[in-house]
Amino acid sequence: MSNQNNGLRGGALNRRITIRDLAEAKKQGEKWAMLTAYEQMSAEIFDEAGIPVLLVGDSAGNNFLGEENTIPVTVDEMIPLVRAVVRSSHRALVVADLPFGSYEASPEQALATSVRFFKEGGAHAVKLEGAQVEQVSKLTHSGIPVMGHVGLTPQSLHQLGGYRVQGRDDGENILQAAIALQNAGAFSIVLELIPSDLARKITNELSIPTIGIGAGNTCDAQVLVWTDLMGLTKKPPRLAKAYLNLREEMLAATKAWADDVLHGTFPGPEQTFL
Ligand code: KIV
Repeated sequence: MSNQNNGLRGGALNRRITIRDLAEAKKQGEKWAMLTAYEQMSAEIFDEAGIPVLLVGDSAGNNFLGEENTIPVTVDEMIPLVRAVVRSSHRALVVADLPFGSYEASPEQALATSVRFFKEGGAHAVKLEGAQVEQVSKLTHSGIPVMGHVGLTPQSLHQLGGYRVQGRDDGENILQAAIALQNAGAFSIVLELIPSDLARKITNELSIPTIGIGAGNTCDAQVLVWTDLMGLTKKPPRLAKAYLNLREEMLAATKAWADDVLHGTFPGPEQTFL
């Protein structure tokens, strides 16, 4: 697929990306990038940069809401974040992450939660963790595109005994879960923190795009938490690479401004009205 007409990167496509574009990218062997976003400014920038899919992840918990992990995040906390990202983007497909406890009980619960994300948040798709095959089937039959997520599923942190690489056995259970999610109708699937050989096998096996995070470079797409990408996170995970040192830059700018206030050099003549 060429960037000139229907590419996932760049600004050529003058409409929202759809799940059909992502399916076509897999067929064409075109890789793409997904980033998390939780608010207006970052969403505007990532959309302008041509990121085709923005995930309003429940990683908002430990990157935006001040929580220790993703588990305490609620639907009511997530909906305004989703709405902000949808309003601030024009091209990206916006995926809302279903928080822990909002979909596991039944397909009906998953549908009720997803409908809220669609109606109140304006989401274009939802993501859920684990082999929730019946939930995926119910959602896709109700017109709601679903992104799956297997491997390390952070909402099961306590069950898994920490943030550990998954699938170091033969990885068969993860492969089978991915296949079952695809068969239930998922349009794509996140592979988190699994050995690269296993990710390659799953990517070759599936006809839907795989999106890797800590899963090697053979996945169809890659996702990062944006605060890790920009160097804002205090202790970034090994799977991430910072392309900027925003934390240090913001710290320096904050101190410089506060110093200017202290010394009476801010506001200067340019910020002063006569
Ligand atoms: O919530 C999140 O940010 C995620 C990504 C790491 C895939 O689930």
